[in-house]
Amino acid sequence: MPMERTFTALKPDAVKRGLMGKIIERIEDKGYKIIGMKLVNVSLDLAKKHYKEHEGKDFYNRLIEYITSGPVLAMVLEGENVISGLRHIVGKTNPDEADVGSIRADFCMTKEYNAIHASDSIESANREIALWFNESEICDNYKTSLEILMGI
Ligand code: PPS
Repeated sequence: MPMERTFTALKPDAVKRGLMGKIIERIEDKGYKIIGMKLVNVSLDLAKKHYKEHEGKDFYNRLIEYITSGPVLAMVLEGENVISGLRHIVGKTNPDEADVGSIRADFCMTKEYNAIHASDSIESANREIALWFNESEICDNYKTSLEILMGI
């Protein structure tokens, strides 16, 4: 399994509903390492760059309006196979179709307000990490207890 990095963001509904701690707990319980984290008031420019692949879709304007409507908790995670692993924990876009036990199934009711974004590929992860974080904001100079246990 490859050691990977991914980008994830707790969206305004998760922040406003006070779900940050519960969602972070799931990420940490899984063993993923948080190497970047910040609350961001997303600018229109950043929102458009982040969601550029969805430009032109019928929900695009709502998506932009929503992600700029309040603070977002942006994170960079590191771990084995973290890109697809995190997507699994997050669940399908539509909470009604997400597996029970996933974040979206457990905490959300609608596709529009689905609490969390997670990069869907290595290319997206690299692009989104570089878009949201500076090198100096990445703190990969510590070991988690799991890394110490596994001798990595
Ligand atoms: S697509 O068209 O299959 O690529 O779209 P999908 O991957 O399902 O969703 C991409 C992001 O758009 C959000 N989304 C919506 N927002 C508002 N209204 C509607 N109807 C809607 N459908 C999808 C969805 O939450 C995804 O956001 P991120 O932040 O990437 O999870």
